[in-house]
Amino acid sequence: MSAAGRLVAAIALGFAAAANAATTGWPLQKAHTDVSSLASLQRGARNFVNYCLGCHSLQYMRYSQIGDDLALTEQELRDNLMFTGERVYDPMRSAMPPDRARVWFGNAPPDLSLIARSRGVDYVYTYLKSFYEDPSRPTGANNALLANTVMPNVLAVRQGAQLPRYEERKGADGQPVQHLAALEPGAPGEMNAQEFDGFVRDTVAFLEYVSEPAKAQRQALGVWVILFLLLFTTLAYFLYKEYWKDVK
Ligand code: HEC
Repeated sequence: MSAAGRLVAAIALGFAAAANAATTGWPLQKAHTDVSSLASLQRGARNFVNYCLGCHSLQYMRYSQIGDDLALTEQELRDNLMFTGERVYDPMRSAMPPDRARVWFGNAPPDLSLIARSRGVDYVYTYLKSFYEDPSRPTGANNALLANTVMPNVLAVRQGAQLPRYEERKGADGQPVQHLAALEPGAPGEMNAQEFDGFVRDTVAFLEYVSEPAKAQRQALGVWVILFLLLFTTLAYFLYKEYWKDVK
């Protein structure tokens, strides 16, 4: 590639990157999820179906498996999590066609099956809590963690409004730049801050379970494995003493 060609490519790449949302250095908050709590996972599943499944799929998760893992009967699945016409062995697919979504939002909502593992639970938790009002954006909202995200603030009614507080800082060139310093509560929503944290925590816990369904079982199993190992070690110790007692 010629030098000019390289320059054009570099500029084009630069624009492509600028058009996309970008993660900022916004501090992550601890999600404190508990995947061993069935109640939390059940609430999270319900939150996900009501607030996220409209746009996001969980293509590796079938309703039947949720039923098995979260102790829900088929009737409970049908009443709370499934749309009419769906079968229990169907994966959790969003009804939104990805190509349409790309046109509407400029970026398709990603499948969230593995998001808790790829981004981490603290990231997803902080992302969902960091939307704020920004009239300059097409959706009227921006995100402190993922600047210029195209996801709308779908939990605004629950959380209430968050307003940005900017600080002036010196940029690299010495010119002052506006820097997002904090998010402050605006008009209240249906939930207070503590209830909203719980709502988001349950939703993220559900996504954590989805990203590694065996984890919930493994944590419960872990205790028994350790107890077994302790017992086994004790037995082995006495056997050892028994075998060698005449030799020594
Ligand atoms: C109206 C459609 C819509 C709904 C409803 C929605 N999202 Fe999104 N979501 C999007 C789009 C579009 C993106 C892509 C964002 C981007 O690239 O800027 C996205 C991105 C994400 C991401 C990835 C962020 C990243 O770092 O790439 C996560 C996590 C997420 N959504 C979680 C959720 C959860 C959890 C819910 C339910 C509480 C939800 N979303 C509801 C449209 C939606």
